[in-house]
Amino acid sequence: MRIAVTGATGHLGGHVIDSLIVRGVAPADIVAVVRNEAKAANLAERGITIAVASYEDQAALANALEGVDRLVLVSGSEVGQRLAQHTNIIAAAKQAGVTFIAYTSLLNLDTSKLGLVPEHQGTEALLAESGIDHAVLRNGWYWENYASAIDSGKAAGKFFGAAGDAKVSGAARKDYADAAAAVITSDGHTGKVYELAGAPALTYPGIAAEVAKVIDQDVVYVDQSVEDYQATLESFGLPADIAAMVAGMEPPIAEGALYSESTDLEELIGRPSTSLSEALSA
Ligand SMILES: NC(=O)c1ccc[n+]([C@@H]2O[C@H](COP(=O)([O-])OP(=O)(O)OC[C@H]3O[C@@H](n4cnc5c(N)ncnc54)[C@H](OP(=O)(O)O)[C@@H]3O)[C@@H](O)[C@H]2O)c1
Repeated sequence: MRIAVTGATGHLGGHVIDSLIVRGVAPADIVAVVRNEAKAANLAERGITIAVASYEDQAALANALEGVDRLVLVSGSEVGQRLAQHTNIIAAAKQAGVTFIAYTSLLNLDTSKLGLVPEHQGTEALLAESGIDHAVLRNGWYWENYASAIDSGKAAGKFFGAAGDAKVSGAARKDYADAAAAVITSDGHTGKVYELAGAPALTYPGIAAEVAKVIDQDVVYVDQSVEDYQATLESFGLPADIAAMVAGMEPPIAEGALYSESTDLEELIGRPSTSLSEALSA
């Protein structure tokens, strides 16, 4: 069985490939779909099949997926472009005769008010319309997203945010990757929607405490208004539009967009999810 992985030169895609190999998939049966062949040199050295295609090029994608049975569709990273890109990937998969797709979507998609929702909703709808058997992996936040808190913790002993007493059910990228590998290498997942959330969930002060553990220094959570938080992010060097996007996520996060009591992740990977301190230490 040949399994393709999109975004294979990215963080999550790389972990998916590692997990497929641990699960006994032969490297040559893994097709790494990449846009930059040079970046995939280490994958090629490990015997993984490399297929070059950008998400803008449907014909190249169809070539890349020729002979592929199952596809892990790691969602694209170019926010705003993704629905068009995913449309190309799903159409190419159909053309190539791919029989099953596992798509990395967003936690709590049915209720979340995060601005990321429409592209994921659109993609889930495309999958339903495609007629290709599929499963949806609604990933929660990566703990690695809080890596920058290490810098602000070291510099000022502070972790900034604007989400009050929100709780985040995060997990490490390798946990979500392991779940994707579990789904793509076994049967019985067609039509399933997995809400993938780590446990235990952490409040923002809890995140500060975990960061403190990692850097062995006191770190306190500073709860700001969305506007002040945006200004803080800009003062750390984030471009204004990115700072606005990140700060704008805080109100939905405060409403629980990143919190879930689902045990799907732990059940799929057969172990507890990774703690924040372990993820940040790695
Ligand atoms: N749950 C979360 O907390 C969270 C956070 C951030 C993102 N995400 C989502 O999860 C996905 C995977 O996360 P990640 O950390 O692995 O992201 P990442 O490291 O940025 O990887 C993104 C991958 O997508 C590839 N890619 C982007 N645009 C492409 C295009 N037009 N054509 C072909 N390939 C393209 C990149 O190729 P290059 O290597 O050539 O750049 C890279 O391999 C992201 O893309 C995003 O949808 C989730």
